[in-house]
Amino acid sequence: MADNGFDFLHSASALWFVILASLCVSLVALVISALRSRRTPSEPANVEPAPARVVLREFEKNGHSADAALVNWSPSTLREILAKELPDAQVIVVSNREPYIHNLRDNNVDLVVPASGLVSALEPITRACAGTWIAYGGGSADHLVVDQNDRIEVPPENPSYTLRRVWLTEEEQQGYYLGFANEGLWPLCHIAFTRPVFRTSDWETYEAVNQKFADTVVAEARNERPIVLVQDYHFALLPRMIRERLPDAIVITFWHIPWPNSEVFSICPWREKILDGLLGSSIIGFHTQFHCNNFIESVDRFLESRIEREDSAISYGGQTSLVHAYPISIEWPPAQLGKLPAIAQCRARIREKFGLADNVSLCVGVERLDYTKGILDRFHALDELFKQHPEWIGKVAFLQIAAPSRGTLPAYQQLHEECLRCAAELNERYGRDGYTPVLMVAEHHSQEQVYEIYRAADVCMVTSLHDGMNLVAKEFVAARDDEQGVLMLSMFAGASKELLEALIVNPYDETMMAEALLQALTMVPAEQRQRMQRMREIVRDNNVYRWAGSMLLDAARLRKRAAIDPAGPGSVAAANVISLLDRKRVAAL
Ligand code: G6P
Repeated sequence: MADNGFDFLHSASALWFVILASLCVSLVALVISALRSRRTPSEPANVEPAPARVVLREFEKNGHSADAALVNWSPSTLREILAKELPDAQVIVVSNREPYIHNLRDNNVDLVVPASGLVSALEPITRACAGTWIAYGGGSADHLVVDQNDRIEVPPENPSYTLRRVWLTEEEQQGYYLGFANEGLWPLCHIAFTRPVFRTSDWETYEAVNQKFADTVVAEARNERPIVLVQDYHFALLPRMIRERLPDAIVITFWHIPWPNSEVFSICPWREKILDGLLGSSIIGFHTQFHCNNFIESVDRFLESRIEREDSAISYGGQTSLVHAYPISIEWPPAQLGKLPAIAQCRARIREKFGLADNVSLCVGVERLDYTKGILDRFHALDELFKQHPEWIGKVAFLQIAAPSRGTLPAYQQLHEECLRCAAELNERYGRDGYTPVLMVAEHHSQEQVYEIYRAADVCMVTSLHDGMNLVAKEFVAARDDEQGVLMLSMFAGASKELLEALIVNPYDETMMAEALLQALTMVPAEQRQRMQRMREIVRDNNVYRWAGSMLLDAARLRKRAAIDPAGPGSVAAANVISLLDRKRVAAL
C-alpha cells in the first residue's frame, strides 16, 4: 500500500494546490524582479523613471526624503533638492585640480579643461549648485585673471559658480602633490606594483598644505554650516581640520581612488593620522562597497573605535562618520554630443586624420599617461592577437591618446619611454607602407576631441590595472548614440561592477586580452547594439547628478537630524538615525 504522502500528491486537490502555489511563487518572483529592475544600480528601469518632482512629492507626502534610486536625475533635480532639503546651504567643493586652468601662451591666455575624471564629474554638479570650488591655481596665467580675493566666476562662457584659487609654492607642490600624494598615496592605494615612497618632509608639507586649504574653506564659508565636499587623496587631513573650525559643517569626503586592504595600508608611516583626518568627515564616500569595506577594516585595525558594520558607521573620538558607496558617473546627456556631427562624419574625420585605410578597424585607449591604466598591457594584447591570428595584421590599428601627467616623477617618465619603445617595436614588426598598427599620441586633448574619437572607434580598451571607477568607460558608452562599438573593460576598474555588458577582462592575462580583442573585432552589429543599449540605460539612470544628489540627500538627513538632536551632525545619535533611514530604504527595495 502506498503511503499517505504519495496518495496526497496524486489527489486532484493536491495538484491544484501545487499549481496555485507555483503561480503565487512566480508572481512574487515577477514582482521582486520588476522592483529590482527599477532600483538596483546595475539593473536600470525598463520603464521611464518618474519625473523628479512627482517622486519627491510622493516621498514627502509619506514623510520621507526622496529616494535616490527612484529619481530621474538632472541638474534641476539637484537644484530642487538643495532648495527643498537644504535651504540656504552653501556648497563648497575642495579639490587639488582646478576645473579651469589659465595658461600663458605667446602673450595670450589659453584656457584648458584638465584631463581628470574628478573634474568632469564635479563640474556639472557645481554648476547646478552654484557653489564655490576651492582648488590649487596651477596655471601660468591663473593669477592674472582672478579678482583681489583670488576668485573668478566660471565657466567662462556662462558663469554660474565661483572658483577660488589657492596658491602653492614650488616646494609645497613638490612635497604635498608630487611627493606625498602622488609618490606615496597614489601607488599605495592602487595595486599596480609600483612601490610607494614616503618621505617625512613630504608628509610635513602635505599637512601644511591641508591646513592652508582648511583656512581657505573657513574664509569662504558664508556661515557656520556649509556643506563641504572634500575631494580625494590630496586632502586626507582636511576633514578633521574643517571639523575643528566649523563644527556644524557637513563634511562629505569622496575618495576617488581605491582603498587598499589593511595590510597594504599598514605600509604608510602616518596611517593613524590619515584615518583620524578622514574621520573628521560626516560621510566618507568610495565608488564601491569593496573599498568601503577595506577602509572600515583599516580603521578597525589601527584606531580605537566602535564600528557598526550593519550601518557602515564608525564612532571615533565622540563623533560618527558614515562610510558609503556612491558610484561616480558622468552627466547625461553629455554636453559634448551637442557639439559633434553624426557618427559617420566623426569616423571619416578621425580616419583621415590618422591615415587609416577603409578595411582597418580602430581600437582606442584614452587616459592620462599613468602606470595604473594598463596601457602597455594593451600593446601586449595586440602583439598576442597578431601572433595568434596573423590574418589581422594590416586590419586593425590601435590609437592611444595619453594626456601627459605628473611628468616630473620617475615612474611616469619611465612609463612614457616604455610606451614609446613598445609602440615603435610593434610598428617595426607589423607595420608596412600605409599601415601603422600603433598610434601613440601623448598630448592633451579637449573633451570634444576625445568624444569625437570615441564616436569613431570600433573598440574602446579600458584595461586599468586598478581604478576607483574609470569614467572613460562611461564616456565611451555615452558617446555612442548609434548603439555601436565594443567596450573592453578591466575587472579591476569600479566601472566593471556596473557595465556588465562590456567584455570584462583581466589586463594581466595577455591571452584573455587577445581573445577578447578578437571577440570585439568580430562582434556582429546586433550584439553590439544589445550590449550598448543596456550599458547606455545604466549610465543614463546612474548619472553624475545621482552621484551628487545621493550624497546631498544623505547630508540633508544629517542636517534634519541635527536640528532635532543638539549633539550635532556628527554625533553618534545623528548617524544612527541616518543609518536607520538608509536601512529602511534598502529594506523597501
Ligand atoms: C585621478 C585623481 C584625481 C586627479 C586626476 C588627474 O583621477 O583621482 O584627483 O585630479 O587623476 O590627475 P592630476 O594629478 O593631473 O590632477
